[in-house]
Amino acid sequence: MKQSEDAPPVATDRPTTRIRVLPHPALCPDGLEFDARAGRELVDELLAHGVAIEHACEKVGACATCHVHVRDGAQGLAPPDDDEEDQLGDAWGLDAQSRLSCCVRVRGPSLVIELPRYTKNHAREA
Ligand code: FES
Repeated sequence: MKQSEDAPPVATDRPTTRIRVLPHPALCPDGLEFDARAGRELVDELLAHGVAIEHACEKVGACATCHVHVRDGAQGLAPPDDDEEDQLGDAWGLDAQSRLSCCVRVRGPSLVIELPRYTKNHAREA
C-alpha cells in the first residue's frame, strides 16, 4: 500500500535532518522542530508535521506559493535549477535565501526555515 505524502513519517534507517521552523503568526505560532527524512521534499515534511503551507500547484514547481526562506543549512542543499529560479521571481518577499519547498530535497544535518508572512496569493488579496 502506498503511503500518503501527508502521512506522518515512519521510522526508517534513512538519515534525518533536524528542521527548525521559525514562528509564523498563522502557520506555526510557536515555531517547531522535527526530524525530517533525507531525500523527501521539504514541503511534504512541513505538511506531515502540521505546517499547512500552501501548495497551490500540488507541488510541481509552478505556483511559488510554497516559498520559504532557508535561514540556515542551505549549503547542504542542491542549488535551485532554472525552473525553480524562474518561479521564485513570482514569490512574495523574495530574498537571497528563498527556495520553493516543493523543489527542495531535505539534506544535511539541519535546516532553519522561515515562512514568509504572505504567499503571492495572499499578497494580491491584501
Ligand atoms: S507547490 Fe507550487 S511551486 Fe511549490
